[in-house]
Amino acid sequence: MGLEDSKLSAVAYTWNLLTTFSYTLWHPENGLPGGVSVYHPLMIEVRNLSKVYETPGESVKVLDGLDLTVGAGEVVALVGPSGCGKTTLLNLLGAMDRPGGGSILINGRDITGFTPEEAARFRNRSLGFIFQQHHLLPQLSVLENVLVPRLAGDWEEPAEETDKRARELLDRVGLGHRIAHLPWQLSGGEKLRTAVARALVNRPSLVLADEPTGLLDQASSDKVADLLLQLNREEGVTVMVVTHNIQLARRIGRTFALARGKLEEVPE
Ligand SMILES: Nc1ncnc2c1ncn2[C@@H]1O[C@H](COP(=O)(O)OP(=O)(O)O)[C@@H](O)[C@H]1O
Ligand SMILES: [Mg+2]
Repeated sequence: MGLEDSKLSAVAYTWNLLTTFSYTLWHPENGLPGGVSVYHPLMIEVRNLSKVYETPGESVKVLDGLDLTVGAGEVVALVGPSGCGKTTLLNLLGAMDRPGGGSILINGRDITGFTPEEAARFRNRSLGFIFQQHHLLPQLSVLENVLVPRLAGDWEEPAEETDKRARELLDRVGLGHRIAHLPWQLSGGEKLRTAVARALVNRPSLVLADEPTGLLDQASSDKVADLLLQLNREEGVTVMVVTHNIQLARRIGRTFALARGKLEEVPE
């Protein structure tokens, strides 16, 4: 696919900054690589989670005794007004930040005690993250963007297989004819679908999506929701989607509302 060397090192650097996928380490606890690969019936078990941001002169309590249980293979939605802590929760579930207290078990393993190396390995192996602003790298084509996670660390799959997987994913998200485009040549919906393909290239067991449809019109939002549901059915991946759109949330699955630092399931 022809990533030139200079471009490649710039890309690896940017991607590491973006997700801090910077180190990898054999995880000694259970003799498995740091990825969470053993099947567990519960994908997410959060108990009594708290998070306080300390800023000069003020401390902001965002999460306060939050509990959450999500089964493996479920799709759930998270709603709540701007500023209520949705991104904070997603970052904690993705081992991108540390809680003030409480426990987070992903696939049966407590991720809150991870060293930075273990957290990086967990993200690289087990997690797909769809960022609110997509974070596509502007100098790379659609296909190269989907392959970026491979550059971040010790990717074990042979290059040809990952290439094949990336192309298949792009076909499935309807971008098979756009693989050589650069991000600025894509519509908002196409950028997002590229980010969805990138989040799945490592065959994650959990996908976290932070307001993926926030910038899209209704028709494009519906298409993205359909796509995530289809990927869930076909790959068995557990998906958690943050959205402002309650109709969309209900289509997606079990819906939780975040308010005053806690989650409540929204009745159907
Ligand atoms: N790094 C930070 N330092 C201080 N306050 C923060 C930080 N990140 C988020 N906050 C505050 O925490 C609250 C929740 O933020 P966030 O999780 O981004 O909300 P949401 O995603 O629901 O809009 C907001 O009031 C925000 O200003
Ligand atoms: Mg947010």
